[in-house]
Amino acid sequence: MNNPSLYLKVHHIGRVGSRNIIQKYFHLVSQNEDEEIAIIDIGSGPGNVTHDVLFPLFKNPIKKVVGIDISKEMVEFANATYGNENLSFEVLNIGNVVPERYISFFDYVFSFSTFHWVKDQRKLFLNINRIMKPNAQMLFSFVAQSILFDIYQSVWRRPEYTPYIDDVDFGQSCFQKSKEPVKEFQDIFENAGFQVEMIKIDEIAAKNKSLTGFKEFLVSLNPYYDKMPDHLKENFMLHHLEQVQRDTEVEGPNNFYMDFNIFVVYAKKK
Ligand SMILES: C[S@@+](CC[C@H](N)C(=O)[O-])C[C@H]1O[C@@H](n2cnc3c(N)ncnc32)[C@H](O)[C@@H]1O
Repeated sequence: MNNPSLYLKVHHIGRVGSRNIIQKYFHLVSQNEDEEIAIIDIGSGPGNVTHDVLFPLFKNPIKKVVGIDISKEMVEFANATYGNENLSFEVLNIGNVVPERYISFFDYVFSFSTFHWVKDQRKLFLNINRIMKPNAQMLFSFVAQSILFDIYQSVWRRPEYTPYIDDVDFGQSCFQKSKEPVKEFQDIFENAGFQVEMIKIDEIAAKNKSLTGFKEFLVSLNPYYDKMPDHLKENFMLHHLEQVQRDTEVEGPNNFYMDFNIFVVYAKKK
């Protein structure tokens, strides 16, 4: 997850998925074209979605567009590739801190494929609420449930890997086992001070991938790949692939696939 070039090459969910979500749902976002606005993209990764997709959709004069990410490598890549006088990227973990300079600052908040990384959802959305102006708008999607997280659980608990895995639940949606994920999420979200205008679960899939392509896809997502010692890296990924083959009934060499149920939410700060 710290490798921007690999992520851009293989990450279907980010590259195509976020673009599709924006194309499908951006019409919900209202704009008053005279106002000078500030926009934040949370978990901006390599910065391509912020720059190529979100930035051109706004006709307003721009005060500031900020992409934030916990990964220094992603932020350095994004600034070098897409940074300009209106658009910059910063290392920031919004699950932990709210910088003073951003309190009540943003008119629009976006985030794609990121919030399932954050365990304390209540704190996350309280923090986000604080950086938004009253009535500011928010459009985001993140993974609610996926077989990928079950695969993480079975591989990461293998004894050869446990010394390098400090948290077996890391990077996985806390709604994975929920029977009513929408209701559960909506309760937390509304209690953090938001008014939901639209909430749903969309199904998306990474599909038609070769073994090598799928392995790269899994590496680009896996939060522990970089932490594995070199002599275990290959086996670590092979164990994920074996489990994918078992759990998803792969048919043929180019038919690796994986489903993701994602929350899609459009909301306003109350
Ligand atoms: C799957 S990528 C999505 C990138 C981009 N939004 C897209 O749609 O292609 C998720 C990104 O979220 C970042 N991330 C994870 N937890 C975060 C947090 N608490 N605060 C900010 N960024 C975070 C990761 O470093 C990663 O770059």
